[in-house]
Amino acid sequence: MKIVKNILNVEGHLNSFKGVCFLVLSSYLFTSCMDKRHPGRIYMPDMAYSRAYEAYATNNLKNEGINYIPSPVQGTISRGDLFPYTLPDDSNGYKMSSGVKDPLPLLNAADLSEAQRLYNINCAICHGVNLDAQGPMATSGKVGGIANLQLDQYKALPIGTMFHVTTYGKGNMGSYASQLSKKQRWMVVQYVKSQQAKQSASTTDSTKVAGKDSTASTAKK
Ligand code: HEC
Repeated sequence: MKIVKNILNVEGHLNSFKGVCFLVLSSYLFTSCMDKRHPGRIYMPDMAYSRAYEAYATNNLKNEGINYIPSPVQGTISRGDLFPYTLPDDSNGYKMSSGVKDPLPLLNAADLSEAQRLYNINCAICHGVNLDAQGPMATSGKVGGIANLQLDQYKALPIGTMFHVTTYGKGNMGSYASQLSKKQRWMVVQYVKSQQAKQSASTTDSTKVAGKDSTASTAKK
């Protein structure tokens, strides 16, 4: 026991020397990794450079014994998503869209101002911020036949049909399915409806603001 103690005593000085060496060495090791341009050796290359697979792309992981289903399970929707819109992009689908109900509750003030923002970005360039078909694309004559959404015929247009048109496009208007999510599209058409209702309340003569391109046909029904 005594011998061991003595050895420890002798080693005590040695240990403090070792400690200093350790500190110097470790601070060197830590700071030597600072240079990002020289990353040095990679300890686990598999983790540093993971093999990337596209989420929904076909892959051969199954052959490697990995059970990974690349596409969503049939008949399911992602959490929080709205049900798929199933009406087809044809005249029959257009007709049937009049019966489609708005799945969203009445928008609150915050959602409505978000809907207004989306409308101003995506729709106002043609339909105008006041729905009067006086957007820059209309006044410049670049796009013809833009619907004046202040007209009674568009006030009477069911919200489901507005959603249908926003989803698939109509005439010179393109589809917004890739720019706006289903929820955003419903928000935008709810905003259009609310603006139409506001304008109906404030003015009785809804035709006085009709622009030159405002007589868009509804013949394609
Ligand atoms: C490039 C210009 C353009 C943009 C942008 C545009 N529209 Fe249109 N929109 C039109 C034209 C043109 C028509 C007339 C289509 C027809 O009846 O041939 C129309 C028609 C409509 C109608 C009437 C549909 C019907 O059944 O008669 C609604 C509602 C509508 N647009 C909503 C929107 C909304 C909402 C947006 C934004 C998400 C939008 N539009 C963006 C050009 C545009």
